[in-house]
Order: sequence, then C-alpha cells, then structure tokens
Amino acid sequence: MNLLITGGAGFIGSHVVRLFVKNYPNYHIYNLDLLTYAGNLENLKDIENQPNYTFIQGDIANEGFINGLFEKHKFERIIHLAAESHVDRSINDPLAFVKTNIMGTVILLNAFKMLWLDNYTDKLFYHISTDEVYGSLGDSGFFTEDTSYDPNSPYSASKAGSDHFVRAYGETYGLPYIITNCSNNYGPNQFPEKLIPLFINNIIHNKPLPVYGDGNYTRDWLFVIDHARAIDIAFHEGKLGETYNIGGFNEWKNIDLVKLLCAQMDIELQREKGTSEKLITFVKDRPGHDLRYAIDPSKIKNELGWTPSLTFEEGLEKTIRWYLDNEEWLNNVTSGDYQNYYQKQYN
Ligand SMILES: NC(=O)c1ccc[n+]([C@@H]2O[C@H](COP(=O)([O-])OP(=O)(O)OC[C@H]3O[C@@H](n4cnc5c(N)ncnc54)[C@H](O)[C@@H]3O)[C@@H](O)[C@H]2O)c1
Repeated sequence: MNLLITGGAGFIGSHVVRLFVKNYPNYHIYNLDLLTYAGNLENLKDIENQPNYTFIQGDIANEGFINGLFEKHKFERIIHLAAESHVDRSINDPLAFVKTNIMGTVILLNAFKMLWLDNYTDKLFYHISTDEVYGSLGDSGFFTEDTSYDPNSPYSASKAGSDHFVRAYGETYGLPYIITNCSNNYGPNQFPEKLIPLFINNIIHNKPLPVYGDGNYTRDWLFVIDHARAIDIAFHEGKLGETYNIGGFNEWKNIDLVKLLCAQMDIELQREKGTSEKLITFVKDRPGHDLRYAIDPSKIKNELGWTPSLTFEEGLEKTIRWYLDNEEWLNNVTSGDYQNYYQKQYN
C-alpha cells in the first residue's frame, strides 16, 4: 500500500509516521511536509533510513505539485495531518489558515478523487481534526460526534471548513473518508508555543509563565502516542463515512495543570518545592477564548476498543523527562524566529 501522511514532520504527524513505519513494513509511507516553523525532520531521525519510508518536501496548497505527486505515486490511502495549528497565530494571520487548512485539504481531496475516479475499493481519505470545531461548552456537558459545529477562532473555523469539505466529498462524490476529532495533545516533540512545552521551557530558564485570563479555561488532554494509537485503530478498523471523537477522559483547568507541571518540574530539577509556581503571571486574555472543551470518547472506546494507555501524571512525567533529555532539540527550535514570535505574543 502506498500511504501518504501529510504533516508528518510536525508534532503529532511524526509520532504517527514512526508508528506506521515500524508496525507496517509492507506499507510504503510517504511523508509530505512543507517544513514550516512547526515541521522538523529531527523528529524522525531514528526512522529516516527505513526502506519503507520516503520524505517529500512540498506544499499541500500547491495544486499543480499535488496533482503531479498523486499521479506519480498513486497514493491509495491518506492520513491528512498537515495544518497551521496554533490558535494565537490564526488570530494574527487568518489567511494562512484558510490557505493551508481549507484550500490545502480541498486540493488533496480533488487530487485523490481525480486519481481514483469511482474506483474507490480499499481507498481511504483519513482526515485528522480537532475538538475545537465544536466551540465552547459551559460548566457541564461533553462534545459527542453529533454536537453541532460552532467554531470561534480562525483556526477552529478553518478546521471546521476542512471537515465539512471532507464530508461533502463523501456525500457528493462517494469518496471514502473517516474523520477523527481529538482533544489537546501533549508529549515529546511538540513545538514550544503550545502550553505544556512552552511552560517547561520557561521553567527551565526561570522565565515567567504567562497564563491567559484567570486560568480557569478547561481542556481535555491526551498523550500524543495514545492519539497515534487511536489513529492506527481508526485507520484499520473505523467505518467509512464516520466521525470518531478522541479524548483523554482527562479534563484540567489551565491553572491546575500549570501548578501540577510546576510541582513535577521542581522535583525533576531538584528545586525547592514552590519555586516554579512563583513564575506564574496572569496575562491579558486571548480574544474569543473558548471556556471549556470536553470530549466524550465513548464511541471509539465502545466500537473500536480504544482507551488511553497512560494517566496524565505518567504522561506529563515522560514529557518533562523528554524535554530535559533533549535540550539540543529545544535550543534549536527556540532560536531565531521563535524569539521574534515570543516577543510579539507575550511582551
Ligand atoms: N496539537 C493538538 O493538540 C491537536 C489536537 C487535535 C487535532 N490536531 C490536528 O492534528 C494535526 C497536526 O497537529 P500538530 O499539533 O502536530 O501540528 P504541528 O503544527 O506540530 O504540525 C503541522 C505540520 O504540518 C506541516 N505543514 C503546515 N503547512 C503545510 C502545508 N501547506 N503543506 C504541507 N505541510 C504543511 C508543518 O510543517 C508541520 O510539520 C493538525 O491537523 C491539527 O489541527 C492537533
């Protein structure tokens, strides 16, 4: 099988690529990634020479290039992760999100459709999405697969748009698809603009920990390797035309999460208890900030037998250890443009 994975040099994508390259030697995995600031081939050093793996640098929003690539490699299945993925960046530059997340997805759908026409036996377009498309919850309730879309940020609106296009290609052209909507991921290789790696990096360097608003925003968190496992299961066992929600059964208020992280970092860095917590500073809220996301992952649990393998404490400990053991990775990605972005965003 020729399997195309888009965005495979990014955070989640690199874990998915590694899992498929290692577990499925009879698939040829093509990793297509533009290598934006978020893409990093260092993430895949351990598998880059495997015979069933090929990296291709390119833009999913470049129609001519994508059509040529599909013609050449005849991809039978696709796992589509490539995206602009950071809410704060989407507030500063919404068009970049429309281009990659919506245009890029439609260009891939079209190329897939043109390649196989109506001969879709054993073919699959697997689209990776987020729980953010459902908007914001109050103090109670959960997102299920039937919750209406109600996105509030340019990021979530662009992901919602891409989900709608995938579904529309299924309904209109019979294109075989699966969509999964997952909650917040954390773990090794995440770019330190997202909360957990950003704060680990700041604690290491004794820098302030900028918590938005009053810190009461609530998110569900899932260890990235458990997400990759869920993708593996949905890819092989999921029903065509279905959506599955993936979540960690693990809701945290940001401020409580940050306090837990601080406590674990004090232990790891052998600092006096309470040292890292003193770095917490509350900063001006993000506009359009969703109060609470919470996923009900019963469908994937009951129908496909997936559950997370780690508790949050275990996952967080592994994550902290990884960042402390991979200082060079962290230093490389936080030099240059990262500094400019950080100054603009938080100062
Ligand atoms: N991180 C999360 O918590 C989370 C949760 C649920 C869903 N998702 C979804 O999972 C996917 C991956 O998220 P992530 O956190 O790994 O993102 P990421 O930002 O770490 O990685 C995205 C990757 O896509 C690549 N890319 C960006 N634009 C591209 C383009 N035009 N053409 C080709 N490649 C391009 C980047 O170079 C990068 O390697 C996204 O679709 C995101 O919406 C993420």
